[in-house]
Amino acid sequence: MRWSRKDLLDLQSLSPEEITAILDTAREFKAVGGRAIKKVPPLRGRTVVNLFVEPSTRTRISFELAAVRLSADVINFTAEASSLKKGETLKDTAKNLQALRADFIIIRHSAAGAPHFLARVLDAHVVNAGDGAHEHPTQGLLDVFTMREHKGRIAGLKVTILGDILYSRVARSNIWALQKLGAEVTLCGPPTLVPPIFREMGCRVTANLDDAVADADVVNLLRIQHERQRQTMFPSLGEYTSLFGITRDRLKKMKPDVLIMHPGPINRGVEVESDVADGVHSVILEQVTNGLAVRMAALYLINGAHGGTPEEN
Ligand code: CP
Repeated sequence: MRWSRKDLLDLQSLSPEEITAILDTAREFKAVGGRAIKKVPPLRGRTVVNLFVEPSTRTRISFELAAVRLSADVINFTAEASSLKKGETLKDTAKNLQALRADFIIIRHSAAGAPHFLARVLDAHVVNAGDGAHEHPTQGLLDVFTMREHKGRIAGLKVTILGDILYSRVARSNIWALQKLGAEVTLCGPPTLVPPIFREMGCRVTANLDDAVADADVVNLLRIQHERQRQTMFPSLGEYTSLFGITRDRLKKMKPDVLIMHPGPINRGVEVESDVADGVHSVILEQVTNGLAVRMAALYLINGAHGGTPEEN
């Protein structure tokens, strides 16, 4: 498949073929990551700016490393120390970065749609690294990549996403990718955080944890996003944990080969017990490793896949 998009803004607008193209390219870049010399030249001479206006550990460092491995020059923009603090608009900031010949703007922002807005006003490639509660496309892709690696397929998989769905961009990107590739998605959590409207996206919605995880091939846990909640959505964290936290005892009732996933950061002892987060079913750190390959693939394809396949580099 020939890649023709300037930007990567969401998974909702991608076709199954485009999603599969990124996953297949990421598999090649993961193999490159196993070599003694991990750096390849496709983005030599290109400049990537990480414009993170919200905190991040995994996504920012992963994009930085992906760009470095592809031989790009990388600039990390620190919002707190920037002229955004003096009232400069996001558009003016981004236009100035483009005037400095930035070729890629990787943006994380609390406002849903901020990457789409920049993509309209910039010639530079724009990549969404998480916009409010809307989408986190590379997280969705790395999650699906990890599932496919372990299970050999996505079509027909039963995937349960558990927790704060309402405020989760990770959930939305997962739902789009999984459904486009033929998985069955169940959403579970307190009804205030998993409203029935999600059925309109084709998901099964339930507040019954035992029912949601009994035959799941994958359980993807989400953090409670206090930073986005404008009101208390359940009585207490203790009650949330007692009803929806994944403990060793609950894990024993799941399929013997269930995958436990989490995009991070984890709230240990809230949505997941440490024994489960660090146990044999958990692929949480593999997700982080795979994120590097997925982000290399995304940057490589958006750049126009110049310079041969990953294997030829
Ligand atoms: N999963 C994720 O987006 O983590 P960060 O907020 O640390 O980037």
